[in-house]
Amino acid sequence: GMPEFVKIVEVGPRDGLQNEKNIVPTAVKIELIRRLASTGLSVIEATSFVSPKWVPQLADAKDVMQAVHNLGGIRLPVLTPNLKGFEAAIAAGAREVAVFASASESFSKSNINCSIEESLIRYRTVTRAAKELSIPVRGYVSCVVGCPVEGSVPPSKVAYVAKELYDMGCFEISLGDTIGVGTPGTVVPMLLAVMAVVPIEKLAVHFHDTYGQSLPNILVSLQMGISAVDSSVAGLGGCPYAKGASGNVATEDVVYMLNGLGVKTSVDIEKLMSAGDFISKKLGRLSGSKTAIALNRV
Ligand code: HMG
Ligand code: MG
Repeated sequence: GMPEFVKIVEVGPRDGLQNEKNIVPTAVKIELIRRLASTGLSVIEATSFVSPKWVPQLADAKDVMQAVHNLGGIRLPVLTPNLKGFEAAIAAGAREVAVFASASESFSKSNINCSIEESLIRYRTVTRAAKELSIPVRGYVSCVVGCPVEGSVPPSKVAYVAKELYDMGCFEISLGDTIGVGTPGTVVPMLLAVMAVVPIEKLAVHFHDTYGQSLPNILVSLQMGISAVDSSVAGLGGCPYAKGASGNVATEDVVYMLNGLGVKTSVDIEKLMSAGDFISKKLGRLSGSKTAIALNRV
């Protein structure tokens, strides 16, 4: 059955803004995070401490984190691809981090410039350093159903990487359909394979809406017992190393569906819409959320 409560992990300021053509001013990022923090969201992924040569859009990670790290009562995880990123994140005030592996060799190479095994070795150094400071580490697996280079990805590969991240101490594993090719037909067997090796309460789902499949994919995930969902305000997003991938599922659309199902989220949809409206105006385009567009018309 359905969970009573779903934890939404807002990834717009990171997954969304990492993929913008024009670099978003630091002050706009900070204001977006502040507005998101006022909606009732409990987790907002704020930025990434990655190489500015690889992701120039988030080169201001330190300034963003320093400005928001003491927003009351909100968890503000940041992506850290290695020890260098971890140390910079902690120095800027981060109290939660995320590492990101891939279920596809080709994507691992293009996204973080190393093999899957090399990335797992690297992430063990990050989780070890984090443990010493009692910093929670989230683990991502990307390309959980498809890879832009390799095509379909076997569920056994996803299960293997998810278990490695879980065994090294990640408190939650987010399963990412990075390019948004999954349907319930491929998502269900993938989840079954992962659930066989990682407890379901430790899993989250992360869908991109390239083919409009995010909501059905989320619905089947919830029916299978998942209760943590990643999403992005106004449907911001994509991945700079996954050509053609569109934004994450819009947080407004997820909250609208969950409200309809009677599943609690803690998120105020009006305030969420106002945060989405703010960033859409700053980016000069229509919101990627169908709910936002529909409710703004009413
Ligand atoms: P590399 O070039 O192999 O690393 O990059 P390196 O160790 O050889 O270092 C090269 C240069 O980068 C050096 O500087 C380092 O100091 C610097 P130089 O000497 O040339 O001046 N460097 C750093 N600088 C700042 N912060 C750091 C850092 N590390 C090294 N942490 C690396 C390897 C992993 C660093 C690079 O490939 C990288 O930053 N990749 C990040 C890519 C990324 O952020 N992708 C998007 C996020 S993943 C995603 O979106 C998917 C997800 O949403 C889930 C889903 O959708 O499925 C999570
Ligand atoms: Mg993503």
